[in-house]
Amino acid sequence: MAERLTGRAMDKLVLQGGQRLNGEIAVSGAKNAALPIICASLLTADTLAVDNVPRLQDVATMQRLLAQMGAGVERVDGGLVLDAGRVDRPEAPYDLVKTMRASVLVLGPLLARFGNARVSLPGGCAIGARPVDQHIKGLQALGAEIRIDHGYIVAKARRLKGARIVTDLVTVTGTENLMMAAALADGETVIENAAREPEVVDLANCLNAMGARIAGAGSDRIVVRGVERLHGARHRVMADRIETGTFLTAVAAAGGDVVLAGARPDTLDAVIDKITEAGARIEVGPDRIRIVARRRPRAVNLRTAPYPAFPTDMQAQFMALNAVADGTGVVTETIFENRFMHAQELMRLGAQIEIEGNTAVVKGVRSLTGANVMATDLRASASLVVAGLVADGETVIDRIYHLDRGYESLETKLSAVGARVTRRR
Ligand code: UD1
Repeated sequence: MAERLTGRAMDKLVLQGGQRLNGEIAVSGAKNAALPIICASLLTADTLAVDNVPRLQDVATMQRLLAQMGAGVERVDGGLVLDAGRVDRPEAPYDLVKTMRASVLVLGPLLARFGNARVSLPGGCAIGARPVDQHIKGLQALGAEIRIDHGYIVAKARRLKGARIVTDLVTVTGTENLMMAAALADGETVIENAAREPEVVDLANCLNAMGARIAGAGSDRIVVRGVERLHGARHRVMADRIETGTFLTAVAAAGGDVVLAGARPDTLDAVIDKITEAGARIEVGPDRIRIVARRRPRAVNLRTAPYPAFPTDMQAQFMALNAVADGTGVVTETIFENRFMHAQELMRLGAQIEIEGNTAVVKGVRSLTGANVMATDLRASASLVVAGLVADGETVIDRIYHLDRGYESLETKLSAVGARVTRRR
């Protein structure tokens, strides 16, 4: 069953800023790859063994979701052993979906394997409306009958049929849902305008190990030749590029010399470019990144967009970096509306930020001052940690359950490289 939840609602993170960071940090498995891969286990009655699964609140939520459907879910060392052989309730209830939007990733697999699914609509979300219309439209193109009933997506299909799907916009979980559904469909599916994120590729690799026939993942055109059934497999989750990027911004802001072991530099081109532009030195090996930051960072301009462009999940952390940089940085968010909530909290620490629509103009200041701030979403929380590492005095971050959704042992990892950070319960 689900492991003990690591986060407690009232936990706070307390940081004493001003320490340089030196040493080595081991990068965890990617949250955004682990979540769809866990859902992929629903596509087979055999066992799927997944290695390198991070211990996170979101992963625990996904474990609970599968367990309540009747799946076997077991933590074994650093991974999970998943067995959906006896699933008898193809449903995702509101109380789980509302805490984690990625729960919608069970829709495609459930429908493809069981012919029906009932999944709560995610509802409102702190970083914008985030509809799932593209997931629904794509599944309808594959022949599913879908209606919305009392806030639930109710989907039925005798057997999905391959089709050509052109999504109206680039959606990561939408692409993943459709790829999983198409894996068991009758005939060939082409997904045009597909998301090219590395996590989509990781999922495709896992599905292919399970017997799927997917080509083109990582490009904007994915071709899936449906098969009758999938079988068990073993898969290792890729390294978390957003966690890696978060540590890169932390070192770029605080200064120091840190090696990120087990990282995937090939998935971080846009982020590494901006870190370099900010003045830090980067050395990459096949599975490690070393960052050396000796001087005050320089401000950088950036614009979020689908992969391989700059990730929206790194926008907040770069805003914190710009807050203490030399010069003025212009940050434009094109993926999510209302994803600047961290700006207000950063301003409590003394940051100078002006927001106009989807653009934030950040005028770097020499120093920030510790204060009490509040985490509002996952990546916003990460930006407050980056700021707290450089602010003079004590910064107390409230509501860090947001952080526990997506960062494994953050305070332990940061303490090990010299940060002064503790969790207060
Ligand atoms: C995924 C990531 C999230 C990241 C985001 C963008 C996971 C579990 N989460 O979220 O960390 O911030 O990609 O890189 O992988 N949209 C629609 N209709 C849809 C689907 C999406 O309008 O049916 C819109 C969204 O509101 C948003 C944009 O498309 O404005 C991109 O969203 P999407 O790529 O779907 O994000 P997620 O997959 O939810």
